[in-house]
Amino acid sequence: MMKLIGFGGFVCGFLLVTVGGYGFGRCPKYPSMPKFNLTRILGDWYEVERSFYLPEIASGCTKLAFQPENENAVKLNNIFRLEVAIKTINRLTGSPSINIGYATPESSRSSIMDFKFNTRFPDVISRLLPGSGKYQVLFSDYDNFAILWSCASLGPIGYADQIWIFGRDRDFNVTIRSKIYDSLKRLGLEPDRLVISKNKNCPITL
Ligand SMILES: *[C@@H]1O[C@H](CO)[C@@H](O)[C@H](O)[C@H]1NC(C)=O
Ligand SMILES: *[C@@H]1O[C@H](CO)[C@@H](O)[C@H](O)[C@H]1NC(C)=O
Repeated sequence: MMKLIGFGGFVCGFLLVTVGGYGFGRCPKYPSMPKFNLTRILGDWYEVERSFYLPEIASGCTKLAFQPENENAVKLNNIFRLEVAIKTINRLTGSPSINIGYATPESSRSSIMDFKFNTRFPDVISRLLPGSGKYQVLFSDYDNFAILWSCASLGPIGYADQIWIFGRDRDFNVTIRSKIYDSLKRLGLEPDRLVISKNKNCPITL
């Protein structure tokens, strides 16, 4: 066990240099996306790219399905809790997994959400970045892409942040991709941190 932790520490040190997902000081603060419309973010999203994250290396075909927990709340345009179904395939075993969570926006027009898993996440993941916590849609055009971001404080050591790029399809064309990368650069996030998610031979039923 001690050896494993030591190795993890080494990998983190390595990531610090090559990926830049770690920083000193506090998590950067981003404002909510202006006039965020929660209704338009509903539906299915596929993970197309994301920042490198060791515990996630074996997963692929990740899909998020957002739906209002309460249909009536949408009609009234109130703050409503979203149910989030996260489906992935383990690329090593081929077995699918579904995790259900709930996202509560800070206000009716806010893209900053408090997310809680219904199911407990494996410890290996919660060690680096808790599955539950604050997640933020930094930017989305609703129809093609959404940039999701989360940051975890590592106490006096600094912080670790993660970026996910979701699409309405499993890939982006050139126009959309350059729009996403431009948005990231404007937010001071380095597109070089992103790796293409494993989306080959995904089951249609997922
Ligand atoms: C949010 O989007 C929905 C669906 O496009 C639309 O009907 C609604 O008017 C929008 N809400 C606001 C406040 O713009
Ligand atoms: C990419 O897709 C968008 C949205 O469907 C479209 O407006 C744009 O023309 C496409 N660009 C290319 C190069 O196909």
